Amino acid sequence: MKKKELTILYSEFNNPEELSSDDSDLFAEAENAISHAYAPYSGFKVGAAALLENGEIITGNNQENAAYPSGLCAERVALFYASSKYPDVAVKTIAISANTKNFDFKGPVAPCGSCRQVMAETENRFHNKLRVIMKGISGKIYIVEGVNNLLPWMFIADELKK
Ligand code: THU
Repeated sequence: MKKKELTILYSEFNNPEELSSDDSDLFAEAENAISHAYAPYSGFKVGAAALLENGEIITGNNQENAAYPSGLCAERVALFYASSKYPDVAVKTIAISANTKNFDFKGPVAPCGSCRQVMAETENRFHNKLRVIMKGISGKIYIVEGVNNLLPWMFIADELKK
């Protein structure tokens, strides 16, 4: 038996001014998308903005439901909308931000496991690394270059494709 270690890599930024102008613009779109979140049950509003290979930016926000599991996270709303509108276009980067009045949220917001799995599929489908930018309304910003840094040992099974 051997004990092994997996390393994940991320970049940490102290404020949005440290971001490149492209990342900063994308992050601003994610922040704007927060205002249209439908989150009456949790009060936790999330915005996501996906930059596609063709230069389009697709935004999404969380959509909740009285039957809680029927709701969907901002990241998946954005990625599924991108896929439904541009099925053949890769997603390069997704920026995520969140806010709530209920508690002091500094973030960065970390995508849930289901969103990470959808990011893994998006990445694998287009054979490109997906960059993920995570931030709260204030505080540090994290960027990962590739979903393997969010979801080690992700489930990818091209063998299942028929
Ligand atoms: N949520 C997101 O939209 N994205 C995340 O990364 C974390 C959680 C949503 C789901 C639910 O509407 C609310 O935040 C509280 O979990």
